[in-house]
Amino acid sequence: MAEKPVLWVARKLSDATLTRAARDYDAIINHQDGLHSADEIVAMSARVDAILPCHSERFNADVAGRLDPRLKIIANHSVGVDHCDLAALRARGIVVTNTPDVLSDATAEIAMLLMLGAARRAVEGDRIVRSGAWDFWSPAFMVGKQVSGQRLGIIGMGRVGKVMAKRARGFDMAVHYFNRGRLPGELEQGAIYHETVESLLGVADFLSLHCPATPETTGMMNRERFALLPDGAVLVNTARGALIDEDALLAALASGKVAAAGLDCFVTEPGGNPALSAHENVFMLPHIGSATGQTRDAMGFRALDNLDAFFAGETPKDSL
Ligand code: DGY
Repeated sequence: MAEKPVLWVARKLSDATLTRAARDYDAIINHQDGLHSADEIVAMSARVDAILPCHSERFNADVAGRLDPRLKIIANHSVGVDHCDLAALRARGIVVTNTPDVLSDATAEIAMLLMLGAARRAVEGDRIVRSGAWDFWSPAFMVGKQVSGQRLGIIGMGRVGKVMAKRARGFDMAVHYFNRGRLPGELEQGAIYHETVESLLGVADFLSLHCPATPETTGMMNRERFALLPDGAVLVNTARGALIDEDALLAALASGKVAAAGLDCFVTEPGGNPALSAHENVFMLPHIGSATGQTRDAMGFRALDNLDAFFAGETPKDSL
């Protein structure tokens, strides 16, 4: 019987994923779930044919240049691949895949949660009840911003952006969007296309980011762009922290230009930004957009499907 390919599963994935990985591969599994340095990743590449990492393992140009020729494929357990220098990996002949589609519903759920929680002051309300400080009620108490019927601006009308738009329509929101290209009418579902980010920002009472982090989008929400939002806008980010200049966001929160923000990702992860944590009108989560049991299984299986195809001599469905 042919030997199974050696696979390094770099993080503790779902039980179903690990069971399947161990069944079909000579799998080295990181049951301890610790993070690995660049040197450890490079060292591991000499022992394996494939790596199944998450966005927490960085394959930048330096790492890509030092990977052992034994490594043939990096099958990411993520849709975002900003942790991979794709050009450098391609130059080394290493195939890279991701896991699109399967996490769109879960991520849009978290975007809705953040939008609602930020607009309706969830952090402050939870703190008041939880701490026993709730000793007063008045119609003037904890008045927030209504979501229903408002204008939602979406930057990046890809898979997650489209689900977000669908969910927002359930709240009677008017959906506006900016995307690299306009969607066909049947996919727009009435959403209003803007040719520039600047045009979109002018109508975004609520703004939700759903585009990948690339050199072009890094820091895209800067001081100039925050200034274009309607006063008291609410910002939601479930994509990547790099999209936002966090100092510019802090200034927009201080001036009231941004009334509240819901953030699932930060420039520094893990950890976040202590200056943002000081604001109760910032509702924060620790990068858990895709963290449901169902979605974790689907992500793990999608990564394994890509590996299976590769080792069967086919082009994996999600090759980048
Ligand atoms: C993704 O898939 O990109 C999510 O951010 C989790 O890694």
